[in-house]
Amino acid sequence: MDEANRIIVLDFGSQYTHLLARRIRELGVYSEIMAPTADSEELKNSKGIILSGGPKSVYEKDAVAFNPEIFSLSIPVLGLCYGQQLIAHELGGKVELGKVREYGNAMLRIEDSALFEGLPREFNVWMSHGDKVQKLPKGFEGKAGTEDCAYAAIADVKRKIFGLQFHPEVSHTEFGMQMLSNFVFSICGAEKDWGMENYLEKKSVEIRAQVGGKNVFLLLSGGVDSTVCLALLNRALGSGRIHALHVDTGFMRKNESLLVKEELEKLGVTEIHVARAEKKFIRALKGIYEPEEKRNIIGGLFIDVALEELGNLNFDTETWLIGQGTIYPDTIETGGTENSNKIKTHHNRAPIIMQMIQKGRVIEPLNQLYKDEVRELGRLLGLPEALVNRHPFPGPGLAIRILCSDGKQKADAELGKKINTLATTEGYEAKLLPIKSVGVQGDSRTYRNAVLVEGALDYAALERLSTKITNSFDSINRVVCLLKPEKINSMKLEKAYLSVERTERLKEADARIMQLVEEKGLLNEIWQFPVILLPIDFNKKGEGIVLRPVYSKEAMTAKFARIGESILGEMVEKVLEVKGIGAVMLDVTHKPPATIEWE
Ligand code: XMP
Repeated sequence: MDEANRIIVLDFGSQYTHLLARRIRELGVYSEIMAPTADSEELKNSKGIILSGGPKSVYEKDAVAFNPEIFSLSIPVLGLCYGQQLIAHELGGKVELGKVREYGNAMLRIEDSALFEGLPREFNVWMSHGDKVQKLPKGFEGKAGTEDCAYAAIADVKRKIFGLQFHPEVSHTEFGMQMLSNFVFSICGAEKDWGMENYLEKKSVEIRAQVGGKNVFLLLSGGVDSTVCLALLNRALGSGRIHALHVDTGFMRKNESLLVKEELEKLGVTEIHVARAEKKFIRALKGIYEPEEKRNIIGGLFIDVALEELGNLNFDTETWLIGQGTIYPDTIETGGTENSNKIKTHHNRAPIIMQMIQKGRVIEPLNQLYKDEVRELGRLLGLPEALVNRHPFPGPGLAIRILCSDGKQKADAELGKKINTLATTEGYEAKLLPIKSVGVQGDSRTYRNAVLVEGALDYAALERLSTKITNSFDSINRVVCLLKPEKINSMKLEKAYLSVERTERLKEADARIMQLVEEKGLLNEIWQFPVILLPIDFNKKGEGIVLRPVYSKEAMTAKFARIGESILGEMVEKVLEVKGIGAVMLDVTHKPPATIEWE
């Protein structure tokens, strides 16, 4: 492998920075992420530079510091979103806050450009921005536009500097890979010489070096990541040097903890310990409803239980490293890179683990990879398809799908009316829900109200409406469509926390949905299918359930899934049979502006 045959991605804090690097690797070219202040000598040792997006504004005082020589190294540059704005701002153009923010899909119309070689004149792209380029710098031409954005692509062909306002790296942009491929091969002249086999070999050597003469105590949730992690460590170190611990928090899926152990034993992994800690978790979460607080408590307790178990087994921390199947989104969404914004604290990123990482006591061999790469690695290691293809399940489990409340939040009636007026233009009625959920908009975390709409299950209309609502109202990041009953006459926010009763309620609803997903052959088509419990009493009949099936490739972006009406009808009936449930809704929001999970 030629070291200079690489593409450097400068990280301005986008949630998609690593995804971008990964896309380039998918094209068969090694890609590395660096800080925007990287040294010119380092940058020159590459075929091209990509400037990522980011949550800041280029014209503000707190804009990200960068090396201004980027544009005079005679190496091709591609700026994306914030990256395009930086090019315009820095080289004499103008960037301002646009009148309309664009989140989600937009139709792009292109002109001739080396970046668009081989593409149709019009196609769909994925936008997530508030600022936009208003005036071009000298030497630049506009190369594409959308309804709300005149300069959706810009180029200075002579200097090989290109900008795109949209995100070619996310799977919801059509021809995104073709554009990146045009940049990497035609414009930069890079060559194909990178693959997952290389990664496996390189990583095995790294693991042996990091572990040295020690052993690994792996925290095993039993999901795809921790299982692949176990197989990788097994291959790199040999089986006797790894013990795995599964902490049963009580928030696992119905019967999941048992299944995990059985499945791994089938694979010949016998050193598996199970710590039963259900009561401890419920006790620690009493009276808590704020998502980040919940996540921090769960993450902290998780590691406390693990360390206690390590002590019970008489393994001392000097000779045992803690292993985790952390993958890249866990890090980036926790705000783990220099310029990115915190979206959620993933359970394996709790403060105590961060301290242990700094002391060199943790090994995380998958922390540069995305889910689909982890799956590819799993296959390469010989794991069965059934195991590798399972839906992702978050470490904190059902705890972050059981929304809690102190019962005091009020929905703003005036705002509710305005949203309803907008909804009627699409033939729907809308109600503001008195509950908030987490979202990601313009690369930043949001914690905002959800809206319930009542009307036909017309997916195209619902997609339009949900995009309109979240783009028009600053305080909304999520829209759900009522499935049953037909009308909501009363809604009462309950004072409700994590309890055994509510956990059992969700476990049962979730198990029924998962069974139907399998029976109907939807496991592969749908990326993930969270089922959420809301602490709101609907029509005095019981709490609300939200179905959240999504299509995605790497979980950094997602689209709500369009499940056939009759299957959805069966799901609704099955869920309504569960005691204490009064209404069933379908989440019709993409990511962004919402996240996949509600918390
Ligand atoms: P969001 O909700 O941020 O989720 O769109 C992206 C993906 O990450 C999963 N997720 C987690 N996984 N620990 C995990 O191992 C966590 O704390 C966690 N939180 C979210 C989520 O299920 C989705 O696949």
